[in-house]
Amino acid sequence: MTPAIGRPLDRIDGPDKVTGRARYAVEHPLEGILHAALVRSVVPRGSIESIDASEALAQPGVALVLTHENRPPLRPLTEGEVDSSFMEMVVGEHLMPLDGREIHYRGQYVAVVVAETSEQAHHAASLVRVDVVEQPAAIPDTSDPALVLATALPVESLDEEGSANTMLTHRRGDPTMALGVPGSTVVDALYTTPLESHCTLETPGTLATWAGDTVTVYDATQWTQGYQRGIAKAFGLPVEDVRVICDHVGGAFGAKAPLWAHSLLAVAAAKECGRPVRLPLTRQQMFTATGHRPPTFQHVELAAREDGALTAIRHRSANVTSFKSNMVEAAARTVSRVLYRCPNVETSHALVRGDLPPASWLRAPGEAPGSFAFETALDELAAAIDLDPVELRVRNDAEINEAEGRAWSGKHLRECYEIGAGRFGWGDRDARPGTTRDGDDLVGWGMSSAAYFGMKLFASATATIRQDGRAVVRLAAQDLGTGARTIFTQVAADAMGLDPSAVHVELGDSALPRAWIAGGSAGTATNSEVLLRVGTALRSRLAEIAVTSPGSSLYGLPPSEIQHVDGFLTAAGDPGRNESVAALLRLAGAEEVTVKADSEPRDGILSAADPHSFGAHFLEVRIDPAVPRVRVTRVVSVMDIGRVVNPKTAASQISGGVVMGIGMALTEEGLRDRDGRVLNDNLADYAIPVHADVCDIDVSFVDEADRNFTETGARGAGEIGVIGVAAAIGNAVYHATGLRFRTIPITPQRLISAGLPSV
Ligand code: MOS
Repeated sequence: MTPAIGRPLDRIDGPDKVTGRARYAVEHPLEGILHAALVRSVVPRGSIESIDASEALAQPGVALVLTHENRPPLRPLTEGEVDSSFMEMVVGEHLMPLDGREIHYRGQYVAVVVAETSEQAHHAASLVRVDVVEQPAAIPDTSDPALVLATALPVESLDEEGSANTMLTHRRGDPTMALGVPGSTVVDALYTTPLESHCTLETPGTLATWAGDTVTVYDATQWTQGYQRGIAKAFGLPVEDVRVICDHVGGAFGAKAPLWAHSLLAVAAAKECGRPVRLPLTRQQMFTATGHRPPTFQHVELAAREDGALTAIRHRSANVTSFKSNMVEAAARTVSRVLYRCPNVETSHALVRGDLPPASWLRAPGEAPGSFAFETALDELAAAIDLDPVELRVRNDAEINEAEGRAWSGKHLRECYEIGAGRFGWGDRDARPGTTRDGDDLVGWGMSSAAYFGMKLFASATATIRQDGRAVVRLAAQDLGTGARTIFTQVAADAMGLDPSAVHVELGDSALPRAWIAGGSAGTATNSEVLLRVGTALRSRLAEIAVTSPGSSLYGLPPSEIQHVDGFLTAAGDPGRNESVAALLRLAGAEEVTVKADSEPRDGILSAADPHSFGAHFLEVRIDPAVPRVRVTRVVSVMDIGRVVNPKTAASQISGGVVMGIGMALTEEGLRDRDGRVLNDNLADYAIPVHADVCDIDVSFVDEADRNFTETGARGAGEIGVIGVAAAIGNAVYHATGLRFRTIPITPQRLISAGLPSV
């Protein structure tokens, strides 16, 4: 039988999605659904004097207006618990919804209106009168990046509930000394990246229904069991009395990992009304409601010898967040700290707080903006010493993780450079900036490296095989639209000796065996471990039945001599002696057999080794000076993510990341006013890449199994695709024009202001 792992299987849920059969959270048909709409604060700071809901309540169909005065009690999910029980649940902000009079940011919910129809709810919501005594809001002025960096609060000075840790603050050697060594080439520059909003196709939303004292919540989530625990805690319920179900997710990227206020409010409203309540967020609400990538301000200093060897790295990053969140955008955590060989390194982070909605995770939090700054600085260094940017990276390739003194569990970054340069034709590049033209077009080629840490967490799964030879595997993992269902099926099929078509994976339900968050690029590594184990356990159980059942033709054989082929168990070396799974189950007098398996994060891991993933992007931009905008016309991405379980879904992950990188580099920028309001809070004004902005993306993999990390040899493919893309685009723009952009996105306006060479 051909192994399923490594095959480019189509997504199992593809037909369900394109035919509309797939149900997303708030689409579940329930009897008697009420519809909720949120009222948000229009001031950033103040105290609610009064809320007059009488006009809203008088509207047809309106069932309830929930405010701080009448919402049912919620137990606080406090700051301490957020960090100490990270493995149990994650909350988006340290503020319970409708909790008293205080307004902490513009967009904070002040009321929920529930009505028979969504239109009635939204209309009535517009009639809720909220009187607020405004107070002066602290909205950070971030117009001067140097000042931001000078005044931001270093994370080391956070209290113990803050997020400071050794990955955020690192020092080796003496960077100050090394930066001052005469004869060194030094790069010293400030970089800024913008606020980026989550723009998932499916906006987050919740549908909650109570039955007595138990509640079922259909929610758009990356982690049913995390939401389950948070909701149980807030409502003072035993965990098993809360069930969270999420069959399909229409994109998540971190927005649906923490538990947010709207989920708790939907559950509260359903409780008050005694009917199911449906609360989908609007597109505009996504700009305040479920986190965003905060603006970053980064100072990178590099020193190198004439041959390009790095002698010093100092990378300091500050990001904006709310007073109610400790979100550190860990820009200096990976690329500047561990990707390159360098004896003198200092990385640190700082926060700028304001009366603003909380920042949170957005795909490759930290590494995406951090790699923009650092991989741009490296390009500046390459230009300064007149060395090819690929050669510079090869010369500084780190043999080990120098920050932790650990070997890599598997690193094939040099192959990524070689394969990528070859596929792209990098060797033909004329290094002089602003000289390559094609007709009127200025043409530029740029590149960058990528790296992302590997993570593996606990998991459990059950496997059930029935007399028809079909198996069901159950685990509370999640498929965010990434293809997780499909690759879990492949891994489980191989582990059980079945064809993938005979295996059904059930996930997305808190009632299933425990699973961690579908995030942090940890899903494949984490879940493949337990799927292998549960498949092996099932085979052992069947072999045991085969050799211990007197009616079996395999009776009495040692279990080690039993092979599993396509629904049959056979004697090794004597395929004539075999039993079908159906026959074995009949012998055992069972309709089906179920086994369970657990795995722990450290299972199968070589703890001395660091499981980072690596990659390289090569790309081409073209700019027609008469139409001053950057077009990305060619992309080659080569990734080292361990064994590739499914080349098709993995390539989709990487090209999706590249598209995000194109948005980050060229179009996406949340613009805040003095109230902290994102002015362009819609997809007309906040531009994400559309098909016309995206060219063919050539994705390939080194595909070397990393068995120091996982038994399948797989790492993760989630975040790494976006890392470095914005820098590669900026570097290509420099090559095309000679203009260096240290602030993204590189909009037409910025191109013109920078003095784009005219035709
Ligand atoms: Mo991850 S920030 O959940 O894409």
